[in-house]
Amino acid sequence: MLRSALLAASRSGAVRELVERTPLTRPVVKRFISGDDVAAAVATTGEVVADGRYVTLDHLGEDTRDAAQAAATVEAYLDLLRKLELAGHTERAEVSVKLSAVGQFLPVDGEKIALENARRICSAAGAVGTTVTLDMEDHTTTDSTLGILRELRVDFPWVGAVLQAYLKRTEQDCRDLAHVGSRVRLCKGAYQEPASVAFQDKTDVDRSYVRCLKALMAGAGYPMVASHDPRLIAIAGELAKDRSPDTYEYQMLYGIRPDEQRRIAAAGNRMRVYVPYGDQWYGYFMRRLAERPANVAFFLRSLVTT
Ligand code: FDA
Repeated sequence: MLRSALLAASRSGAVRELVERTPLTRPVVKRFISGDDVAAAVATTGEVVADGRYVTLDHLGEDTRDAAQAAATVEAYLDLLRKLELAGHTERAEVSVKLSAVGQFLPVDGEKIALENARRICSAAGAVGTTVTLDMEDHTTTDSTLGILRELRVDFPWVGAVLQAYLKRTEQDCRDLAHVGSRVRLCKGAYQEPASVAFQDKTDVDRSYVRCLKALMAGAGYPMVASHDPRLIAIAGELAKDRSPDTYEYQMLYGIRPDEQRRIAAAGNRMRVYVPYGDQWYGYFMRRLAERPANVAFFLRSLVTT
């Protein structure tokens, strides 16, 4: 119930204003978000890659209905890519993009604009020698996002995408995308979804994750195991035991289980950290609270002790 309430709040303008205006929220937000600007993002990247981990950077923002805002997001990614190159990080750092932040939901020609905007980001990423992964939002966007992925891959075959194990369709999507050159970031899924399309029970989601992982690991693509769940990470290790360590990777979110991230990297695996930055942190932050009651307790504790 708490998860549902927090996910509903993640899309409420009124709660957003309240949470954003509370100065005490800041220290808690900092646990999950690198900082407000590109300088913070590049500095965090430097810290993470220094101990052998990799990074994917997310310029925060989503659900825009404003073409100018979508264009500003593209500019922010282009600036980020330039600065990553200047700092010498493009070998270990890539970017993650939410299509709804670059125009997918615009009332006129949304998909077309999102495709063109994503194309500009991919072109800039390719020019500095790095890659782009498309984040996945709620299930109403899955077909559109996979369609845009297909179009982008014609010119940029290294573009990856996220698939969400809680969706009933995802096992088949994993099979379809388990081909040479395909990069799939498999996560459990973070949105509020109806039972008609998504498993509701945690055990069913975990079982689906394992089936999806098996499909990806059996294929010829590049699986990206995005989870903090120790059981799933152990299963991924077993399934990958005949693969060389450069044909798959583990991924976790910034601020979550950093010691485990370092342990996995030190054991000779690729470990990539998803680093979000920017001032549009509200939706992302609320989804992190919804994932784990302990995060809510941490948030509430900080309100009374800060
Ligand atoms: P879950 O939240 O069920 O946690 C499982 C176990 O992990 C816990 O029981 C505990 O043992 C351990 N654990 C989790 N958090 C911990 C903590 N803070 N401290 C200690 N232990 C902890 N979602 C989406 O819908 N679209 C997307 O595009 C993405 N992108 C994405 C990228 C990356 C790199 C990651 C890692 C995740 C995403 N997600 C996402 C989010 C994802 O769908 C999911 O909501 C979270 O990763 C949480 O799920 P877990 O697999 O970690 O398991």
